[in-house]
Amino acid sequence: MKITTSAPGKLLLFGDHSVVYAHPCISTAIDRRIYVTVTETDDQRYVLHAPEVEIEEYELDLLKDVEAIPKGAQYCQIALRNFKEKYGFDSGLRIEVKAGFSSKIGFGSSSAATVAIIKALSQLKQLNLTQQEIFELGYKTVLDVKGVGSGYDIATAAYGGTIYYEKNGEIIEDLGIKNLPLIVGYTGIKADTADIVKEVRSRMNNGTNEVETLFNEITDIVKEVKELILNEEWNKVGELMDKNQEILSQLQVSSEILDKLNAASKEAGSFGAKLSGAGIGDCMITLASEVKRLNVENGIVQAGGKVIPVRTNVEGARVEK
Ligand code: PMV
Repeated sequence: MKITTSAPGKLLLFGDHSVVYAHPCISTAIDRRIYVTVTETDDQRYVLHAPEVEIEEYELDLLKDVEAIPKGAQYCQIALRNFKEKYGFDSGLRIEVKAGFSSKIGFGSSSAATVAIIKALSQLKQLNLTQQEIFELGYKTVLDVKGVGSGYDIATAAYGGTIYYEKNGEIIEDLGIKNLPLIVGYTGIKADTADIVKEVRSRMNNGTNEVETLFNEITDIVKEVKELILNEEWNKVGELMDKNQEILSQLQVSSEILDKLNAASKEAGSFGAKLSGAGIGDCMITLASEVKRLNVENGIVQAGGKVIPVRTNVEGARVEK
């Protein structure tokens, strides 16, 4: 048996960093996907082929610890191990991963690959796991590999659409929106999420409540903006993006290039702008009316960014063939 599945990348719209500590966030699935083909084989070997992350015909040893596995194979191997422990399977497997986007831009390639692999194994075994079950196994995989993380990226890859995510996955709501006039500007810098998250965590333990207060302010924004997004009140959504960005700056996770791209998009007439994800590098996001879109995109490019065209709010993990 052979099956191909895919899962989408994501962009965090509101709630960056605070979401790690069970606060809510809003994120959207984008039309850049990771494709996984799993073939059952007669031997007991698990072979991974993911040339885009420098893994070629690599034999996975499920007994190996994360640290002993090459970076590009870690999520796949741990997802496989977790799946086997929970649901079992007997055959050997050949897993091929094809990426519809670079692992360097912060669109969540590892989480999309993790979700696509679990979806493929679930279909091969005819388990038809629900989005929630795929999410739970995927989130466990992320924690086993990285040790930190909110799980919103796994939820977005599994569920798709634009979701409200809270309490590390206890609450996952599809907002059911139709439209989101988003523009994405890439800084050209790769952010190391785990390092930045740990840096923020170390500041939480400095004897003041400063970080917690900032997280609570972000939560107020997320709760307010949910309704505004549903009602397509982009002006007000933009204002809250600026406010969320201001708090992220106070958390010291913004950077000169992110500030520059945000400012350029605003000068060119966007509704508001903020970093998306861990900060320091990766991407900024901004909202603009159709009339202003081209202006805003040019502004981002002139400020040194790269505009990445994306469609938001797309379908979650699915079977391709
Ligand atoms: O999308 P990532 O995995 O780069 O994470 C960025 C968002 C953070 O809130 C900073 C971390 C997380 O796990 O939610």
